[in-house]
Amino acid sequence: MSKHLLVTGGAGFIGSNFVNYWYENHPQDKIIVLDALTYAGNRQNLINLENNPNFSFIHGDICDRQLVDNLLEKEKITTIAHFAAESHVDRSILTPSAFIQTNVIGTFTLLESFRHYWQKKNQPPEYRFLHVSTDEVYGSLDINDPPFTENTPYAPNSPYSASKAGSDHLARAYYHTYKLPTIITNCSNNYGAYHFPEKLIPLMCINILLGKPLPVYGDGQNIRDWLYVQDHCSALDVVLNKGKSGETYNIGGNNEVKNIDLVQLICQIMDEIAPNLPIKPSNELITYVKDRAGHDHRYAIDSSKLQKELGWKPKATVESGLRKTLQWYVDNPQWWQSLLSADYQKYYQQVYTTINS
Ligand code: NAD
Ligand code: DAU
Repeated sequence: MSKHLLVTGGAGFIGSNFVNYWYENHPQDKIIVLDALTYAGNRQNLINLENNPNFSFIHGDICDRQLVDNLLEKEKITTIAHFAAESHVDRSILTPSAFIQTNVIGTFTLLESFRHYWQKKNQPPEYRFLHVSTDEVYGSLDINDPPFTENTPYAPNSPYSASKAGSDHLARAYYHTYKLPTIITNCSNNYGAYHFPEKLIPLMCINILLGKPLPVYGDGQNIRDWLYVQDHCSALDVVLNKGKSGETYNIGGNNEVKNIDLVQLICQIMDEIAPNLPIKPSNELITYVKDRAGHDHRYAIDSSKLQKELGWKPKATVESGLRKTLQWYVDNPQWWQSLLSADYQKYYQQVYTTINS
């Protein structure tokens, strides 16, 4: 049976990769994207689908209960894939209130709306509410700790991760209280095409192309577990089609790398693939700056539950995923140049001169 998906945040980085992935693999399904087009949302990311009769885009806020109620009814939604969020840790340190509004109140609004709709339809068991979350809710690991499992206690350390933890608890509670068929996924750091240049990988890549300093926080020894976004999309496909409601699945890339080693690798690949770099070798641009407040030391995901129960595993290595990603930025300067607005420069100034310098 074909699905009718409501994809929240579908104009953002992971959401748009997911929508494009879903059409390639399930062209018969209907997708309605609901996105507020904040600084992080970009309709260009969905340009290939604009004329597809199975696709529509609604510009709106997930906190708007009336809008969500109407959309569920009108589009006969069977599945919500919920990506919409404020997603950047540094912005949550500067302006936490937007994170509470969208991540907590917005998720609550969607859950309430979906609960009433699902109950009115006599609780179809195949309906799904997929809540896309993060490994940051588990807090920070020391170097010798085992990776996060689905049973690791929550210990969020930033306003961002605390707001995501709150939304996870709501999704969990709606299953336990109402049996609403929710599934939670907690994934590690994604990277790939359409990634907004506030996050480490696109920021380093674009600064190399512009000959600007590469700001590494603290001593550069923090570790992240990098997940190529296409691998994340294939995991979400498996979870939506085979996952059990009420369950949580961790999704990781099995690719733990220290920040400074990742930045050195980015420099090395960019020196190979990008023509006419203003500064070469580009690692001359590396600049250590003041650390992020409350900076989590290490994230690492144990995704053996997803591997054993649903048969998924990531395909990309950091090197293979990075090569594709960096090549995409080199080939698509018009995409990222259009994002370097006055607002972006203001944000950059705030983070890199006020907080992290
Ligand atoms: P993003 O910031 O690139 O995109 C977020 C999207 O949500 C944007 O299109 C934005 O316009 C939209 N949005 C924001 N507020 C909204 C609102 N109130 N109503 C409707 N739309 C709104 O984020 P991303 O990196 O694609 O992350 C997607 C999801 O995955 C988030 O829930 C995030 O917490 C989670 N996640 C991200 C990563 C990562 O590495 N990027 C890792 C783990 C989990
Ligand atoms: O782990 C999943 C999380 O990954 C997601 O939930 C978040 O939405 C996503 O933004 C990401 O969070 P991080 O804070 O880990 O990602 P970011 O790209 O901001 O930073 C990655 C690492 O690089 C982190 O240790 C901070 C460091 N860093 C980041 C920037 C932007 C720098 O050293 N310099 C920088 O300029």
